[in-house]
Amino acid sequence: MTKIVTPDPLRFAKGELILLDQRKIPEKKTYIRIKSAAAAAKAIKEMVVRGAPAIGIAAAYGMVLGRKNPLQSAKMLIEARPTAVNLKWAVDEMLKVKDRSFKSMLAKAGELEDENKKLCALIAEHGAKLIKKSSCVMTHCNAGPLATDGIGTALGVIFAARKRIDRVYIKETRPRLQGARLTAWELKQWKIPCVLISDGMAAHIMKTSKVDAVIVGADRIASNGDSANKIGTYDLAISAKYHNIPFYIAAPYSTIDFSARNEKDIKIEERDEKEMLFVGGKAISAPGVKALNPSFDVTPAALITAIITERGVIKKPSRKTMRRFYS
Ligand code: MRU
Repeated sequence: MTKIVTPDPLRFAKGELILLDQRKIPEKKTYIRIKSAAAAAKAIKEMVVRGAPAIGIAAAYGMVLGRKNPLQSAKMLIEARPTAVNLKWAVDEMLKVKDRSFKSMLAKAGELEDENKKLCALIAEHGAKLIKKSSCVMTHCNAGPLATDGIGTALGVIFAARKRIDRVYIKETRPRLQGARLTAWELKQWKIPCVLISDGMAAHIMKTSKVDAVIVGADRIASNGDSANKIGTYDLAISAKYHNIPFYIAAPYSTIDFSARNEKDIKIEERDEKEMLFVGGKAISAPGVKALNPSFDVTPAALITAIITERGVIKKPSRKTMRRFYS
């Protein structure tokens, strides 16, 4: 498996879940030690750890810590972030462990973590085949090692295809700036040429520069292929369609919610308006101004060229093509 040069977003040692505090990256590397399921849920909600696959694995370890009250722990962890279905998937997997001993629960969480790393590696391998020589690609938010506890989904593809990539356009990703802070940091360490753009620049760059593909991750994919990802992904897909640029989603099966028929069944997380109104603790709008802060949007399957999964590439995602891959 590919060696990841960036620090792990999480690890479990001596009975504690240790989380890299992603809110502080790139300024500093600090770690938070988690000793209970409630503390794990709080860290997920406050985005110490974030990214759908990584919060799934953090929740699995949260269940190890909360094994004495499994149902209460499960509820707290699942409610911490409502859109990313990996959270529910991981918690449900942990609830299947019959013997709720520390040893068995820890072994199961470790299994999920190892499997997750393998899924990311397979996604990277399949997705890289879609990237042509001398490509310029665009991405949004952060779908790299920090978000996945593996090589990444969208960024895993970019890493695997790095020799054929001339430039990565990174959308900064307001309001929490995961693109500017995290994706740029990871690509720098991988020495992949990249340039930061503001969220509003994507269509202009597509029109005036060379963009060969857009690749992003996902937080929940409905059974018809409609895909929820960081707010601003839907605009990007519309712009890509207009400019005839392939638009790819990269995600493991744990991100697919087969109980969701389409985007109407995907709950969108609404976060505190303060994330919009303050930057670095400073107000950026007039006092009393209200702000909206939906954390995700849904890109309809019709705008998605393909979904890259561990099983291969689902071209023209639809209920039928999705079922063919996962039956
Ligand atoms: O709010 P975040 O930072 O958890 O949002 C993360 C994203 O939207 C990622 O693109 C998604 O989780 C896929 S991560 C492989």
